[in-house]
Parts: sequence; C-alpha cells; structure tokens
Amino acid sequence: GVKIVTIGGGSSYTPELIEGFIKRYDELPVRELWLVDIPEGEEKLKIVGELARRMVKKAGVPLDIHLTLDRRRALEGADFVTTQFRVGGLQARAKDEQIPLKYGVIGQETNGPGGLFKGLRTIPVILDIIRDMKELCPDAWLINFTNPAGMVTEAVLRYSDHKKAVGLCNVPIGMRMGVAKLFNVDASRVHIDFAGLNHMVFGLNVYLDGNNIMDQLIDRLTNSDKAGMTMRNIADLGWEPDFLKGLKLLPCPYHRYYFQTSKMFEEELEAAKKVGTRAEVVQKLEEELFELYKDPNLNVKPPQLEKRGGAYYSDAACSLICSIYNDKRDIQTVNTQNNGAIASIPSESAVEVNCIITKEGPKPIAVGDLPVAVRGLVQQIKSFERVAAEAAVTGDYYTALLAMTINPLVPSDTIAKQILNEMLEAHKEYLPQF
Ligand code: NAD
Ligand code: G6P
Ligand code: MN
Ligand code: MN
Repeated sequence: GVKIVTIGGGSSYTPELIEGFIKRYDELPVRELWLVDIPEGEEKLKIVGELARRMVKKAGVPLDIHLTLDRRRALEGADFVTTQFRVGGLQARAKDEQIPLKYGVIGQETNGPGGLFKGLRTIPVILDIIRDMKELCPDAWLINFTNPAGMVTEAVLRYSDHKKAVGLCNVPIGMRMGVAKLFNVDASRVHIDFAGLNHMVFGLNVYLDGNNIMDQLIDRLTNSDKAGMTMRNIADLGWEPDFLKGLKLLPCPYHRYYFQTSKMFEEELEAAKKVGTRAEVVQKLEEELFELYKDPNLNVKPPQLEKRGGAYYSDAACSLICSIYNDKRDIQTVNTQNNGAIASIPSESAVEVNCIITKEGPKPIAVGDLPVAVRGLVQQIKSFERVAAEAAVTGDYYTALLAMTINPLVPSDTIAKQILNEMLEAHKEYLPQF
C-alpha cells in the first residue's frame, strides 16, 4: 500500500484530500495517511483528523489516518509528501495584504510584496523538509501547494538536489471549469494548452471537443460584463474587450493584478474598509468550516469548502499522485522544470505547463516561445522569483530589496525599501535568516 504524508494537515482543505483518496481507492490504494502539523495547529489537526477518520469509515476504505506533530517520524518510508502549510498563519497573510496597501501597492497573498514575503517565510521551511526527506524517504515525491507555489518550486529546483518535486495549483483546473461553464458543457470536453508560470499562466489555445474555440471564447468573455472566470479570492472585474481581442490568449484570474493594477488596487482598498482583506474574510470562513467539521455526524466533505479560493486543489493533488503511481501518461498542468518546453524561460527554471504525467514524473510538452506581448512580463516574474528565492536562502537584505524593486507591482526603489523595511520588522519572528 501507499504511504502519504501531508504537512500542514490541519488545513481546512484536508477533507478534500481525503475525498480524493477515497474516490480513487481502487486505483491508488493509500493505506496510511500521516497528517503533520505544528503545536499552533494541533487543535485544527485533531478536528480535521477526526472528520477524516469518519469519512474513511463511512466510505468503508481501510485507510489509517495518523495525526502527529513529529514530522520526522511521519516521513519515514513515505511514498508521497504533500505540503499545504502556512508559515505564520493567516495573521502573517493579513500583514502581507495590509502593509503594501498603505504605500499604494497591491497587497496580495502570492503577488507583489505579499508574495515575496510569503516566499521568504516559506522557502527555508520547505528546504528543511527536503533535508528530512533525503534522510527518511529519499525516493518520495514532493507535491507542493504551499504558496507562492511557483517561487517555492523554483527554490526547490535551484537550492536542493531533490528532483522529485512538483508544484501544484488549482488555477488551470478552475480556468477549464470556467470555460466549460461559459459554453455550458462538461469540463471533460474542454482542453486548454497552458503555459507560463504559477499565477501567471496563459491559455495559449482552448479547444472544445478538439476544435479550437479561442475566437468564440473571447467573444463570450467580452460580451458578458462579468464573465465568471475568476477564483473566489479575486474580484471578478471584466476585461476590456479590445484588449482580449488583441491578446488572443486566455489570461488567468491573477493577470488582473498586472493588466488592471489600478482598478484592482481600488477594489482591494474598498474591500479592506468594508470586510477586511482576504485573510480576514478567510479567517471567518475557516471558523465556520471548523464548526461544521466538529459535528460528529458529519462524515463527508461539506460543500461550504467551495467558498475558499483553493477549492479543488486537493483533488488536483490526488489525480497527480494517481497518475504518477499508475504511470497514466495523461495530461495535467503542473509546476516543474522547464527543460526547454517554454523557449523564453531558462531550461533549469520552474514553469507551469501542460505535462504528460509518468511514473518518472511530469514531462513538459513543448510550446516554443510565448507570444511577444506577454513574453517579457513572464520573464520578469521569473527573474523576480529567482532573486526572491536567493534572498530567502541567503537572508541578504540587498537581494531582498532587489527582488522587491524589480517586481512589476512596485513602482519605485524608495517605496520598495519602505515596504521591505516595514515588512521585515512585521514578520521578523518568521524570518530567522534575516
Ligand atoms: P492554513 O493557515 O490552514 O495552514 C495549514 C496548516 O499549516 C495549519 O494547520 C498550520 O498550523 C500549519 N503549519 C504552519 N506552519 C507549519 C509548519 N512549519 N509545518 C507544518 N505545518 C505548519 O492554510 P490553508 O489556507 O489551508 O493553506 C495552506 C497553504 O496552501 C498556504 O500556503 C496556501 O497559500 C496554499 N494553497 C495553495 C493553493 C494552490 O493553488 N497551490 C490553493 C490553496 C491553498
Ligand atoms: C487560489 C489560488 C491559491 C490560493 C487560493 C486562495 O485558488 O490558486 O493558490 O491559495 O486561491 O484562496 P483563499 O480562500 O485562501 O483566499
Ligand atoms: Mn494557486
Ligand atoms: Mn518596479
């Protein structure tokens, strides 16, 4: 049987992971699932772990669920390690979102200054986990969701020698479901050629039953004021129709931060005043979810989980693990080493691209150069991720300032320095390398 370890097991998303393993039990016989957390997360771990046990019992699946704060014990002999932790919790996320706003800059979990700081907090922890894996389960696959997933994958590829690492995000699945909804068809009939970086991915071509529908899609996107093509955590601002007609690509929801920066900033500011930033909204959602999870009669994943932006991301993980385990050779969109698939990005860097999923891991499908209109932005974000990863590993102030300044959402060197200094101070508890 398969042994899986999930780090950050107390996450409210864990029931989705359980549902995914239950659903696939015949193909993917997971016998042991170890949910790992830290003392701050112990209570959540217990609640979610008890729900997980009720779920497998109800499904009649012989999956043993272990709850532990001892990561090293859990990792022994693991086949797959999934990571879904949040260093510093939602309080740290709230600071990532609030501080930049004071300087007129987008405050976001994975983009701009917030994304940089989430990376600075997360990368040392993931590299530490990999050191443990080297010792305790050197052949295991690391399936990482921990954001910023693109920067984290880049750091793993550059600063560790563990090659069996894949980054995952629910945005590509969400875009596919969004297109299906727009055309009123089942998502299985929709195929998208994805290429770019995490939260910076484009649909290069979109197909319905094998026919290219990009023109009709852009038509539909531009003729409905709110096209619904977004995630729960991103305001559904429509696109300028003529921009999409010129672009001829399907942008991802996060592209709004780059192509609609001032509108998104105003939107954030207003939301912050009315309901708080996304971290505060999520805090309330989480409280509601954990109240539900505590109910001893609940033994399935509650639909309320779909209010989280990451809905379906655990399902993406289960289906990736299943395809690696069974050498399925189906196509999934993951973050992996480029290896020349996107000509405009260094071969050794992480990209988010369609891959054939084999037992040796994802094999990226070559797309050539990205269209010239977006190539530069994608390269700039890759440069930002590389410099940010270097700052996370070295703890070098000047490198961190460089990363902050070259981020396209930050308007000047001086503002970059002000935001950097305030955020270094605010997060110092979780930044021992600085
Ligand atoms: P959360 O705040 O519920 O955190 C999950 C758990 O991680 C908590 O129980 C916490 O105690 C634990 N934790 C914190 N530091 C830890 C450490 N050092 N070791 C082990 N556990 C630790 O977060 P969440 O909302 O469930 O999200 C978890 C992570 O997944 C975040 O980084 C989030 O950005 C990411 N995420 C990614 C995607 C994606 O598309 N890739 C989708 C959803 C969430
Ligand atoms: C999206 C992204 C995730 C992100 C999540 C935030 O789905 O792909 O990477 O973590 O939304 O959702 P939340 O509910 O935490 O705001
Ligand atoms: Mn994501
Ligand atoms: Mn700049």
